[in-house]
Amino acid sequence: ELGEFEHYMLKEIFEQPQSIENAMRGRFNEDEATAVFGGLNMSAKDIRKVDRIVLTACGTSWHAGLVGEYLLEEFARIPTEVEYASELRYRNPPMSENTMIFAITQSGETADTLAAMRECKRKGHPTLAICNVVGSTIAREADGGIYLHAGPEVGVASTKAFTSQVTVLTLLALYFGRMRHLSYPAGSRIIRHLKEMPRIIEETLKCHEMVKYVADKYAKNNNFLYLGRLYNFPVALEGALKLKEISYIHAEGYPAAEMKHGPLALVDEVTPSVFVVPKCGIYPKVISNLEEVKARKGPVIAIACKGDDKIAELADDVIFVPDVEEYLQPLVTSIPLQLLSYHIALHRGCNVDRPRNLAKSVTVE
Ligand code: M6R
Repeated sequence: ELGEFEHYMLKEIFEQPQSIENAMRGRFNEDEATAVFGGLNMSAKDIRKVDRIVLTACGTSWHAGLVGEYLLEEFARIPTEVEYASELRYRNPPMSENTMIFAITQSGETADTLAAMRECKRKGHPTLAICNVVGSTIAREADGGIYLHAGPEVGVASTKAFTSQVTVLTLLALYFGRMRHLSYPAGSRIIRHLKEMPRIIEETLKCHEMVKYVADKYAKNNNFLYLGRLYNFPVALEGALKLKEISYIHAEGYPAAEMKHGPLALVDEVTPSVFVVPKCGIYPKVISNLEEVKARKGPVIAIACKGDDKIAELADDVIFVPDVEEYLQPLVTSIPLQLLSYHIALHRGCNVDRPRNLAKSVTVE
């Protein structure tokens, strides 16, 4: 089953060109420049009424939700919140009548996500699932939903499910956007870019050798910071979670500009900062955050776009990824971070597929 791969995690990382393709299959309507979903079980009229979206999830799925929030607000202009399911289930936030809920979950069995979903459903909100495991409890109990079609994810660390969730959330933003303010040409452009992603992910995976070199160099460090802004802030959180989870290394993710509000005090010669800094509207701002770290002698590993010559002068090590539209960057920038945590874990002799203290589906609260 593992084929040429030593671990499920690596196999699943390398499956991403295919899993992303599968998440999109049959979900474009190119004539109308929008996305289509078979299982939302709601009329266009009801969906048109939605004026607020709540995304609820745990762990990596929650990080995908954060990317979803940025996508939905940018393309559909619908106010969107992302709630930890474990908090939402016991909180009682005011929710307008036309609030729609999406539970995001790979397994469809996470106890907190299920409980948060049931609470929202009981209150009468349309409650849908973005789920991988067909026929799982959350998939069955939701009013409708969207399957990831990522295939089984065996490694405890979620990898391909994350990029599939982000892909589906991009399709959702396109769908909601085209019901509102997004023009036909803008919708067509998004479809064109999305369709290129499987090939671009294939290209991204070529960073593997460089990631191995970086993992070699830093595997003994005991603290890491992960920094990114806008679409790459959730990627920083996800990179840090991956490292904690399978390498047992203390890592923290932050929006890069938050550094001076506290975390900068952690920077020293043995605390590497992983900067997710592809080309974007606020690239110069992220660079100045990076320079603040360098000025304190912190080693910097940058995830940057191919062709970015400037970054090579500033960072200690650079892992290059293809240049894509800002809203698609999480799909490419998350991949070297998955690989980095994998190789560092190998160096440290950790069980990458079955990390200590963790389970693939967390069915207890
Ligand atoms: O199956 P789910 O997506 O609901 O799982 C949620 C989290 O338990 C999960 O993403 C967890 O954080 C992963 N092990 C992270 O790699």
